[in-house]
Amino acid sequence: MSDNQVRLCYKNVMADVIGAEHGITVGQLEELAERTTPLIRQLNKAADKAPYRALPYDKAMVERVKNMAGRLRQGCENLVVLGIGGSALGNIALQTALNPYMYNLDDKQRCGPRLFVLDNIDPPQLTSFLDWIDDKLDRTVFNVISKSGRTAETASQFLVVRQKLRHKFGPSGLQQRIVATTDSKKGTLRKIVNQEKLPSLDVPDGVGGRFSVLSEVGLFSACMCGIDIDSLLAGARETDTKVRRESFFENPAALNAAISYHFYNRGKRISVMMPYSFALKDLADWYRQLWAESLGKAQDLSGAQVNIGPTPVKALGTTDQHSQVQLYLEGPNDKLFTFLEVGQQQKDLQIGPAPDCAPELEYLAGVDLSRLFKSEKHATEYALLQSKKPCLTVLFDKVNARTVGQFIYLFEVATSFAGALFGINAYNQPAVELGKDATFALMQRKGYEELESRIKPYAEIDSRFLV
Ligand code: PA5
Repeated sequence: MSDNQVRLCYKNVMADVIGAEHGITVGQLEELAERTTPLIRQLNKAADKAPYRALPYDKAMVERVKNMAGRLRQGCENLVVLGIGGSALGNIALQTALNPYMYNLDDKQRCGPRLFVLDNIDPPQLTSFLDWIDDKLDRTVFNVISKSGRTAETASQFLVVRQKLRHKFGPSGLQQRIVATTDSKKGTLRKIVNQEKLPSLDVPDGVGGRFSVLSEVGLFSACMCGIDIDSLLAGARETDTKVRRESFFENPAALNAAISYHFYNRGKRISVMMPYSFALKDLADWYRQLWAESLGKAQDLSGAQVNIGPTPVKALGTTDQHSQVQLYLEGPNDKLFTFLEVGQQQKDLQIGPAPDCAPELEYLAGVDLSRLFKSEKHATEYALLQSKKPCLTVLFDKVNARTVGQFIYLFEVATSFAGALFGINAYNQPAVELGKDATFALMQRKGYEELESRIKPYAEIDSRFLV
């Protein structure tokens, strides 16, 4: 068996393990298979209508990314991504997963520029960062990412940086220090790219932010920072073969979605993803957006009001064993757990000997830390199973570009399956767009006056309710 696989283990959601009240019986699994199998065929047929499915096969895109990185890598010590939501979370996840923990701080551990992803507009945070980078601007590249080009957070960051760079290097200095990733034809950022002749990359048509990590959006920063983007896409292609399997029981994306759908309909509406791997922690964050923004919808496809959607929660093993797990074990049985477990860690270390005065620590002496880590996962899972909580595990043989590519694609397609099962459109985000419009209104953008007058009363502080 290959040692670079990502597999879904679903034994511990079954009634045999946690009982028929909370677990899935064989009969229920067969019903899920019956319900989901036609959707597999449907999604396979429509795969070319979900453009994110084509990304792992897009060789021209990879060439564009490599060429751009090749041009800009020379002399670049810092890469700063300006973006938010789907234009940032994938970049963060790839970096945490595939580069060392101390990458930014230890020059010996990094094989590309330091990476900073600024996915917020918090003034003290941004000021502190800009103060630090100010005397390094000649060795810095900014990658501004916005599909729509209309997002106030990214636009404002961009305008701050643009002003700084123009001030320091003049208008032509922008062209060496900014790469804009945006819609290939339309939108405000594309307009600016055209006018200021900025180098640019494309967000492919029809690929929403949260499905864009394997496009130029996520691949450019990854490539700049030495991540093997070919292996990432090769991993995604491997999963593509698996998620096209028409047999429900052999299709990990269909199974994952169907199990989530089953539990949602039985009151387990919270979906906790808990990696036992620091490297995978931000993939859980990426998944949180993917799942929440894709599946949380007011209306179904027929326009009926459904207000549906599982609530994704991110936890980290072992850290959250000392925080959330008390609630998970003894609180309401309203959650489906998905652990991420790593077979073989990239690096390991041995625990030192116990001092004579502490023979009770002897059990740790000389043991590999990875063994303790794995035991902690199994211990937590065991305790959850004892309290009848369903647990899935995604097993990574190892964490590398190939398995990370497999995982990303697996959860993207699982999201498409879940959208189909819930009968909603997984690819739009009307509520996020409403929030963007409300911001425009409060910032007195022209054309949003009427919305502003509707919002204002809610923003006013009423002293009668102030304590
Ligand atoms: O997934 C999505 O579509 C959103 O989260 C967007 O990525 C986010 O709102 C940022 O949008 P944009 O890239 O247009 O600036």
